[in-house]
Amino acid sequence: MEAIESRDFHAILVTGGAGFIGSNFVRYMLSKYPDYNIINLDKLTYAGNLENLKDVEDNPNYFLVKGDICDRELIDALFSGKHSIFKREASDYLEPVDCIVNFAAESHVDRSILGPEEFLRTNIMGTFTLVETARKYWGNDHNKLFLHISTDEVFGSLGVEGYFTEDTPYTPNSPYSASKAASDHLVRAYYHTYSLPTITTNCSNNYGPYQFPEKLIPLILLNALEGKKLPVYGDGKNVRDWLYIEDHCSAIDTVLHSGEFGETYNIGGNNEWKNIDIVNLICKILDELTPNKPYAAHSSLITFVKDRPGHDRRYAIDASKIKKELGWKPQYTFEKAIKKTIMWYLDNEEWCKGVMSGAYRDYYERQYGM
Ligand code: NAD
Ligand code: TYD
Repeated sequence: MEAIESRDFHAILVTGGAGFIGSNFVRYMLSKYPDYNIINLDKLTYAGNLENLKDVEDNPNYFLVKGDICDRELIDALFSGKHSIFKREASDYLEPVDCIVNFAAESHVDRSILGPEEFLRTNIMGTFTLVETARKYWGNDHNKLFLHISTDEVFGSLGVEGYFTEDTPYTPNSPYSASKAASDHLVRAYYHTYSLPTITTNCSNNYGPYQFPEKLIPLILLNALEGKKLPVYGDGKNVRDWLYIEDHCSAIDTVLHSGEFGETYNIGGNNEWKNIDIVNLICKILDELTPNKPYAAHSSLITFVKDRPGHDRRYAIDASKIKKELGWKPQYTFEKAIKKTIMWYLDNEEWCKGVMSGAYRDYYERQYGM
């Protein structure tokens, strides 16, 4: 199938733009598309960190709205243009929202096991509020786009062979993946029932700057730097397919501009690693980069711990559709990007300290005084 002609936008509502992927995407878009306005709607949960966006907060094309995707009135005001961010001088008039990129979610599997309710509320009811409001204001207008960002975890667990394709049946195994699966189904249903212009992407595990240290790579990295134990679940042989954040941003950019309505696209790095191998690799790189730390060899800190309940064994993405139809492929090698990631954490000690101590949570108040 041929890629469709590229579309373009005036005002993109990015939900969850203060999180890991969202903040990288906001920065990527502001730098690549100086004519676009980017509205970041974020509830600023524990995972939302405005320090991730310090360098762009004065960009005149960037707007921050603190709020919840489940808040119907607020979403309505953003779509109708009644929100105060639209009430500016005529000279810098902000166009109504013509695109949504929906990142906002509760995103961590372990948290979903401990407390699923917030996952259902944000991931399902939040997505419902967004599609329902988009339907109200956009109908089936094909100059608009609802781009829903999802995960490969909706496809369940693979054995030693095979890959997830766009046709793989959904078999989510955690409350997180079940809630994402439900949101994907809603988005699909709104396309089929109401012709709302939607697209969904399902991506593998991301890594890179600004990732909250509850996810494997930054958790291992920051623990290792402090000489803390490196917890590896079960036998450490679960496999994940890792994609560098910038490659995910470029894939979303590609889908945003040339993806086909009603379609889904799998995004992955063709880069499978057993958890234990990735942990050992991080330790080895740290041994080289910080030879004078008292904790080398860092691998001595590895501790096998009780497995995660329902722990999916293997994820692996077949990304041939997005490559063949839209011409996207990852640009970064794992070797280069994991070093770049580790260097970023080493060079951004203040960010790491803020996140570890919880101090980043005051940023909104400090910066905006409310
Ligand atoms: P994250 O946890 O780092 O960020 C989530 C952001 O959403 C935070 O800024 C948080 O404050 C915000 N948020 C949470 N609830 C909200 C609500 N009710 N209203 C408004 N904002 C809210 O997550 P991430 O890793 O950046 O993931 C972003 C999206 O990408 C998620 O939808 C996730 O399912 C998907 N995804 C993530 C990965 C990955 O490896 N991290 C892989 C594939 C897909
Ligand atoms: P995670 O980063 O939580 O992503 P996901 O569960 O969404 O794939 O975990 C990646 C893998 O690493 C997963 O197999 C669980 C494992 N893991 C550990 O072994 N130890 C840890 O401390 C964490 C957070 C994850």
